Amino acid sequence: MLSEAAKTRIQELFPRYPDKRSCTLAALRIAQKEQGYISEEAMADIGVLLELTPVQVYETATFYTMFTLQPVGKYLIQVCRTLSCALVGAGSLIRHLEQKLGITAGETTPDGLFTLKKVECLAGCGAGPMMQINDEYYEYLTTDKVDRILEDLRRDGKSSLASGPFLIPLQMA
Ligand code: FES
Repeated sequence: MLSEAAKTRIQELFPRYPDKRSCTLAALRIAQKEQGYISEEAMADIGVLLELTPVQVYETATFYTMFTLQPVGKYLIQVCRTLSCALVGAGSLIRHLEQKLGITAGETTPDGLFTLKKVECLAGCGAGPMMQINDEYYEYLTTDKVDRILEDLRRDGKSSLASGPFLIPLQMA
């Protein structure tokens, strides 16, 4: 269920768009930011606000890998597997992460810290292999860099190896 504050933020977006339906992606981002994932209740709330059926909201939420419909760990690791990153080692990087975390892609570690996802292009194609963890990009990855990033996050909750936040959707929402 969305908070009243989230509903208000979504309604404040209406004047920026030609119709309410066009707010769907921004509304989903607000819901995910608030809850860490998009629950069925949140999709129903968005449907009411945007005058869409729950199925219309669901089909948008499931089309984009940036949205997750299940609770995720504290750190959501999204590794790009699309061509440019695949050609420079994304596959072996994903296998390394699976081995390091003791899970397969799509799962969360038992301590609730890390969720690993394989996703399509994250628009960092010239800097692959790359991944996004929560709102931060990590680029030109090697297995050593990945190990250091995981250690940094466990120890400090952040890593200086981040190359920067992915800004555009955050500014929209
Ligand atoms: S192909 Fe990996 S970010 Fe685009």
